[in-house]
Amino acid sequence: MRGIMEQAQQKRIVLGITGGIAAYKAAELARLLVKQGIYVQVAMTEAATHFITPATLQALTGHPVLIDQWQDDKGMAHIQSSRIADAIVIAPATADFIAKLANGLADDLLSTLCLARDCPLLVAPAMNKQMWANAATQRNAQQLLADGVVLLGPVSGVQACGEEGMGRMLEAEQLAQDIVATLQPKYLAGRSVLITAGPTYEAIDAVRGITNRSSGKMGYAIAQAAREMGAQVTLVSGPSAVARPHGVLVVDVTSAAEMFDAVKQYVADADIFIGVAAVADYRVAQPSEQKIKKSDAKLTLELIPNPDILAYVAALPDAPFCVGFAAESENLHEYAEQKRRAKKVPLLAANLAQQAIGADDNELVLFDDAGEYRLPRADKLTLARALLRHAAMLYQKGNEQ
Ligand code: C5P
Repeated sequence: MRGIMEQAQQKRIVLGITGGIAAYKAAELARLLVKQGIYVQVAMTEAATHFITPATLQALTGHPVLIDQWQDDKGMAHIQSSRIADAIVIAPATADFIAKLANGLADDLLSTLCLARDCPLLVAPAMNKQMWANAATQRNAQQLLADGVVLLGPVSGVQACGEEGMGRMLEAEQLAQDIVATLQPKYLAGRSVLITAGPTYEAIDAVRGITNRSSGKMGYAIAQAAREMGAQVTLVSGPSAVARPHGVLVVDVTSAAEMFDAVKQYVADADIFIGVAAVADYRVAQPSEQKIKKSDAKLTLELIPNPDILAYVAALPDAPFCVGFAAESENLHEYAEQKRRAKKVPLLAANLAQQAIGADDNELVLFDDAGEYRLPRADKLTLARALLRHAAMLYQKGNEQ
């Protein structure tokens, strides 16, 4: 298993664009993949160039776009490009191109490249609902699945022609998540991971409540990273505006009590539990069903402690491997290690609350039985991957003993 913060070698993908109106979304997809540090080589069919210019894709990826198989000076672009790729992604894939792939045709550079590949092929169909529903297209899509091709989408929605139905390409953000996921090492394949994330909201009355400034970003990033590593992920989330990670079961809750109920419901299936949520320590003893009216009198709220979800899970007879979080405002090392021992969790990730809450990036210190490890400042997804690599390693070691 890799070192904790070691970055994977730069991944390379060939992004194949075929001639459909969704081709405009491929520009955003290319941008998102480049942003993730991926080397993106674009290959377009001639038809695709009528929808989006190669110059756009060249500017976004920094590499000339492959189009014409006869223009390549070495004459072997189809072999070379597919050899260096970790995956080929066709987005959008037209009905015509899917038919070609299903039948092994190779009459242009992109289809030749697909036929000559020795890496995974991911296909994101995009077409009118009738074309998708057509028996021939369905037969071809089934053939691709039988051939081990990964189909990303399509989904149902409004189409360029004004109709509504199945055939719309997945959004660029979702495609990027799926593509990056296939490129990640599968340290958690076959495992089930349960995560809590976000703040909780404890009602005072019908319209007021007690909450905190947790955004959910770290927990959502961990859910995405766990899914990338092949896990089946359930994310129990307090109120959060963060976009839901693709391919993750999200269970929405509001209060700590609801979060506790949801965790109890899903924990039996979990191999790993990660408590990232900033659970309110107290709730109002008797929330008012009606809005409390203003008056000149003093108002006292009685607060009672909430259950500690992480400590409960860690103490279960058949407890999953538990990971806790600690946000401290001072004495990080001392308080975090105390907390790890008190809650009896094998791994605890600690950060300084004033730097972490709501921010896009963070730095973590991991505490386990062997000592502590610093994960230097990085965006939350990078930290989430490093944390999960460490958790997966400890989990595996624990199982081997
Ligand atoms: O004790 P403290 O709230 O600092 O501990 C933080 C860790 O415990 C986090 O992993 C958090 O998700 C978890 N926790 C919990 N239930 C609570 C309070 C904290 O699961 N009621």
